[in-house]
Amino acid sequence: MNILLLGSGGREHALAWKISQSALCDSLYIAPGNPGTATCGTNVSLSVNQFDAIVSFCLEKQIDMIVVGPEDPLVNGIYDYIKSNAKTSQIIVVGPSKQGAMLEGSKAYAKAFMQRHSIPTASYKEFTKENYNEGLEYIGAHTLPVVLKADGLAAGKGVVIALTREEALQTFSSMLISSQFGSAGDKVVVEEFLSGVELSVFALTNGDQFVLLPEAKDYKRIGEGDTGPNTGGMGAVSPVPFADEAFMKKVIQKVVEPTIRGLREERIVYKGFVFFGLIKVNNEPYVIEYNCRMGDPETEVVIPRLQSDMVELFLAMEYGKLNQQDIHTDPRSAATVVVVSGGYPGDFEKGKVVHGMDRTWGKDTLPFYAGVQSNGQELITSGGRVFAVTSFGSNLGEAVEKSLMEIEHIRFEKMSFRKDIGYEFR
Ligand code: AMP
Ligand code: GLY
Repeated sequence: MNILLLGSGGREHALAWKISQSALCDSLYIAPGNPGTATCGTNVSLSVNQFDAIVSFCLEKQIDMIVVGPEDPLVNGIYDYIKSNAKTSQIIVVGPSKQGAMLEGSKAYAKAFMQRHSIPTASYKEFTKENYNEGLEYIGAHTLPVVLKADGLAAGKGVVIALTREEALQTFSSMLISSQFGSAGDKVVVEEFLSGVELSVFALTNGDQFVLLPEAKDYKRIGEGDTGPNTGGMGAVSPVPFADEAFMKKVIQKVVEPTIRGLREERIVYKGFVFFGLIKVNNEPYVIEYNCRMGDPETEVVIPRLQSDMVELFLAMEYGKLNQQDIHTDPRSAATVVVVSGGYPGDFEKGKVVHGMDRTWGKDTLPFYAGVQSNGQELITSGGRVFAVTSFGSNLGEAVEKSLMEIEHIRFEKMSFRKDIGYEFR
């Protein structure tokens, strides 16, 4: 098969690494990719939202399957765009329809979906400019902390946990009235704060059947001990020790199955990954958010642990055979540590020369490239998250230590990373 993978982060490097190992994959193209994905296939300089150029490329290279990495093109409707063109409608698209992607693209849509299908989640109400005063009253009477969420995509920045009523009212006004998040904040979800431990669970589904991939825990805050502002993710571990068999059974029965049943009942076309952002409260799972794609950096631990053939799973998804698939998982622990540009998630400088990536890595380590480009001779930083260094170990502590030891060989000006990934489990 000829496969086109969309995206350019560490997640896409991990997916490209995995897809390229499948005997079912003849050619792999990655658009736009990065220097890491270039070692797994051919990078193509196309942006993920240039749908017309993507279609032309698919026709030229006789692409059989498109795997969509990030949420943006999904929320913008790439699935429907490909399927509605007679020349490309037979291409397998791994990723949901525009309607399915609304589970991530609109927090209000996701909350209403969960409510319709009795899926456990924080209590909430949604507000627009029309019922602004009602929102002020709701916040005024709400327990603290209270969580405010801009409805649309806001690059992970649209969630505010307000500790005081003043902060909550101020945030509410800057989202709805001052349009702090642009049109993403035209609607605001105000919800109950849940206190517990978080984990990420991933399913591959065709809207009817599903398989679960290994679960992971992401470390979102920039600072050690989970302090400072939220980032896209500073590291991840898999498996998650508190996600034992009994808890995962609850996750399947109370969250995953009702979600897939909901998609089926509502005839929402969904062939792709569902990422359940969960929180465990009093030993019960609650959904914090849905994403319509894999997580980053979670993919960098989930995919290396997956021993099943990825392309075979995608074909089983397409042809209704997911329930005949066994998922084989590496029993070892995996950890990834993300190396970032100094200043991230705030302002940071790009263009720093990276040293040390051309070394021979330890046999249990996989370096995944993210915000980095090649100028032909050197690697140059081009983003906030630059690399994710994944290692295997017989336990999480050993896996993290191996990644930290490998990172000692990487150097670029102002590089930074957390040394405490997986700290609760080590
Ligand atoms: P999201 O962008 O929806 O992933 O939210 C970002 C982060 O905010 C989550 O990973 C949680 O740590 C936190 N968060 C979101 N909603 C809630 C909630 N209802 N209660 C507690 N924490 C939350
Ligand atoms: N690591 C969280 C995400 O991908 O949304």
